[in-house]
Amino acid sequence: MRRVRFHEYGGPEVLRVEEAAAPVPGPGELLIRTEAMGVTLPMVRKVRDGGLPLPGSPGGEVAGRIAALGPSVTGFAVGDRVTALCFRDSYAEQAVVSAAMASPVPDGADAVDAVALVRGGLVALGAYTAARPEPGESVLVTGAAGGVGHLAVQLARMHGASRVVAAVSSPAKAGFVRALGADEVVVYDDASWGDPVDVVLDAVGGELLTPAVAALAPGGRLVAYSSGGGTIAAYDLLVGGRTVTGFQMARTAATRPDLMERWRRELWELRAAGRLRAAVHAVLPLAEAAAAHRIIESRANLGKVVLVP
Ligand SMILES: NC(=O)c1ccc[n+]([C@@H]2O[C@H](COP(=O)([O-])OP(=O)(O)OC[C@H]3O[C@@H](n4cnc5c(N)ncnc54)[C@H](OP(=O)(O)O)[C@@H]3O)[C@@H](O)[C@H]2O)c1
Repeated sequence: MRRVRFHEYGGPEVLRVEEAAAPVPGPGELLIRTEAMGVTLPMVRKVRDGGLPLPGSPGGEVAGRIAALGPSVTGFAVGDRVTALCFRDSYAEQAVVSAAMASPVPDGADAVDAVALVRGGLVALGAYTAARPEPGESVLVTGAAGGVGHLAVQLARMHGASRVVAAVSSPAKAGFVRALGADEVVVYDDASWGDPVDVVLDAVGGELLTPAVAALAPGGRLVAYSSGGGTIAAYDLLVGGRTVTGFQMARTAATRPDLMERWRRELWELRAAGRLRAAVHAVLPLAEAAAAHRIIESRANLGKVVLVP
């Protein structure tokens, strides 16, 4: 089978397609014949900056059919269609995932839909829930056109936000986020981000944290969920009694599988009802993984970037 790995850190050009033996699922694992693989900013960062041992194997969400079950797996059968988080060698024709991180793909949805909807939707719902929003509060979403952000805009609207502000790096993304239901669009460089908001869901971090905290109304809450790092000045929280909290999907998956299951069901139901749209920016063949990483690095994506075998 073919898979993508990297043998040095660097830009997208370090990604290499290799031939390899099919992996063997261990206890509690599934072997999936992949039909779609998600490409994410954290993985693009790890290829460039390090953070994975070499030779490096990208990870991310995958969807496809189960080809084999490891020992002691229950609740799944060979041939089932699933989507799952995969921590290594996810850019591959066959991938091994933990059964605990897998969930069924319903009839009527394809693998690309699953990859665009589930991980991003879980992070969006998790971050929104972490803000403890009250009905009628206003919400600002940074990185609002990205794989997570474009779902967060729609979910905030559906969960009763009175005003949804989409913050993006370029005015070229304005039409896309408005079509998803954003009332206002802010470009990060704008001198003003408009009226203060009750909740900020931050996908960007870094230097954007300061204006993002400043956008909060008194009593407002910012949820940090990005891989972008950054620092927040304590004084900026004191003023107006603002709060910052974090959301990490891996922790919620480990501690609250019931919540993850409820959120997954909600995402598929909203999609089936035509109320939630998982946008796909590009679907590229596995051999063009470098091009997929370039799209993310150029900050051009409107929705999800997906590889297919
Ligand atoms: N906490 C968790 O459990 C968890 C899980 C998954 C993902 N995440 C985080 O969620 C964030 C968004 O992920 P995603 O999957 O939605 O991203 P994505 O689809 O891969 O797209 C990247 C998005 O991030 C924004 N961005 C911010 N800084 C960027 C940079 N330096 N380079 C490229 N893009 C940048 C871009 O929008 P703009 O250019 O408009 O800013 C773009 O929309 C990431 O920081 C990721 O680490 C967290």
